[in-house]
Amino acid sequence: MKYLALTCLASVALAAPSMVIERRQAPAGGDTSPTTLSEFTKGGCKGTILIFSRGTGEPSNLGLLGRAVARELKKVLPDTAVEGVNYSAGVGGNLTPQGADAAGIKMGSDLFKSAAAKCPNAVLLGGGYSQGAALQHRVVEALPKSIQDRIAAVVLYGDTKNKQDGGKIKNFPADKVKIFCNANDGVCGGGLSVNAGHLAYNAETHFIPGASFMKGKVDAMVGKSSAKGGASE
Ligand SMILES: *[C@@H]1O[C@H](CO)[C@@H](O)[C@H](O)[C@H]1NC(C)=O
Repeated sequence: MKYLALTCLASVALAAPSMVIERRQAPAGGDTSPTTLSEFTKGGCKGTILIFSRGTGEPSNLGLLGRAVARELKKVLPDTAVEGVNYSAGVGGNLTPQGADAAGIKMGSDLFKSAAAKCPNAVLLGGGYSQGAALQHRVVEALPKSIQDRIAAVVLYGDTKNKQDGGKIKNFPADKVKIFCNANDGVCGGGLSVNAGHLAYNAETHFIPGASFMKGKVDAMVGKSSAKGGASE
């Protein structure tokens, strides 16, 4: 797979580092699961809906990292619709003050709102990689509380806003968020240096634990709402 590299001059206003390089994550083990999934917009409601935003330059709407997250999530929560945020994922989004493409933020936000409105019984999940992680920060922190309350968990990888936002999503419960940042990932400390650490996320250490975190939070939310309703007893 190709490297997508861009060198740009950082303006003081953007306070951006001088180089942004992102590339597609090489999948391990010949993964043939799809890099595009639009299961909510095309297929409707499921028990759980994951809205995932891919990293810069990643293919289709999920990317190679996102498809691995989707694959592992479906193993533990089969009744899940996965929806990739089909934003452009260009390099420029990283350099905006928000850290993610503005049109993509709008798309992500609209997807959460639409899923919440159309699927009143679905538990919502968020996920993102790299610029797509920044996108989730911007989307989730600004959602109405009624929709935030429907989100069981948000799982982020190689989060370009990890440092800036203090390892959490602002205005959203910290215990619902899991950020996977390799110690040597050059974006997690506030820079935008895409190095080996940024590209070293894998199933065993990251995607399976991420799926298991989401499942735990979904189970807890479903258990709580049925206990509250009391109708099933
Ligand atoms: C994603 O957007 C691109 C560009 O607008 C479009 O060509 C493509 O069909 C879209 N994919 C999906 C799955 O909606």
